[in-house]
Amino acid sequence: MSSDESFYRIQKLPPYVFSVINEMKARARADQQDVVDLGMGNPDGATPAPVVAKLTEAAKNPRNHRYSMSRGIPQLRNAIVARYQKNYGVTLDPEHEAIVTIGAKDALAHLMFATIGPGDVVVSPNPAYPIHQYGVIMSEGHACMLPMPDAATFLNGLEDLYRKGPAPKMILVSFPHNPTTTCVDLDFFKSLIALAAHHGTYVIHDFAYADLCFDGYKAPSILQVDGAKEIAVEIFSLSKSYNMAGWRVGFCLGNRKIIAALARIKSYLDYGVFQPIQIASIIALRECEADTREICLNYQKRRDVLVDGLCRAGWHVAKPRGSMFVWAPVPEAYRAQGSLEFSKLLMQKALVAVSPGVGFGPMGEGFVRFALIENEHRLRQATRNIQRFLQTA
Ligand SMILES: Cc1ncc(COP(=O)(O)O)c(C=O)c1O
Repeated sequence: MSSDESFYRIQKLPPYVFSVINEMKARARADQQDVVDLGMGNPDGATPAPVVAKLTEAAKNPRNHRYSMSRGIPQLRNAIVARYQKNYGVTLDPEHEAIVTIGAKDALAHLMFATIGPGDVVVSPNPAYPIHQYGVIMSEGHACMLPMPDAATFLNGLEDLYRKGPAPKMILVSFPHNPTTTCVDLDFFKSLIALAAHHGTYVIHDFAYADLCFDGYKAPSILQVDGAKEIAVEIFSLSKSYNMAGWRVGFCLGNRKIIAALARIKSYLDYGVFQPIQIASIIALRECEADTREICLNYQKRRDVLVDGLCRAGWHVAKPRGSMFVWAPVPEAYRAQGSLEFSKLLMQKALVAVSPGVGFGPMGEGFVRFALIENEHRLRQATRNIQRFLQTA
């Protein structure tokens, strides 16, 4: 879809780099070619059956067909607060410290819209999920990108930034991280909160991959840090933890001031998620922890198949501790061409769709991202195709 570049905000939003690969994929499929699609992070699994059953039941009740509440029904806010207490030992007030959002993406975009104004600086790692930087740009803030080859380097860069100039208004992070798969422990968050609190900076933590952790690792919530609520909010989503990406349910939790700002903006913009979806989401949060564990184990098995297969093909890639991605350096022989050209080659010669790292920002160049959204059999097929391509090229 082309858009009129004369519109003020549209000028600031370049066309999605990923659309190039998507178009190639669509053409290949139209030619009956069997593409293994590891491009977009769109979960392929089913939502747990009790959640779907509850949706069907609730949808039959006309009382649920009306406008809902833009900040979410109280029972759903109670359910997320109970989950935080149980999983992280974090106590939240469902009235003032929790709000339901239309997925994490809505939470991020509207949070920026609510809190950032012209010239406000928001620091985040790059590469990143695009809305982390474009949400700031759309709000006319200044997106300050710090490289994140690893979490410690990001923290050092942040300390440096504070030493050199005025404090940013906000820091936006996300671990397990998309696309680099970087994971952190609670000490990282303790340092980050201490640093931000000292300088009066707010912190947003996008926890979209909260439950996708492997080999015994458990991702910490930033709200586990003492005093975090004074300056931080966390965004949690049902999309990945419960295979509910299409349902559009997320939460923003923590700092009252930020949540009140988001609630105000949302009260003008929406009437909340369709109420039967909110009711069904309560079942996910209360009853589907076993499903989450199974979803996670499935990604772990896929990770092993993909990484082991790539290694056999001579492409050595580290196994991530979390997320639903594998972040792979472009093989040396192709590095000079860049990640977009290499992704096109993978598509044409190996019939495997991946996301070029540059699509996640300038610091993503030199990498491609595999999303673990096809089954083990298809992943084996992908690595065999890649092996053939790398050997014959
Ligand atoms: C880091 C990150 N945050 C948020 C989202 C979007 O989550 P939601 O489906 O809840 O909007 C994604 C989706 O891929 C993501 O990678």
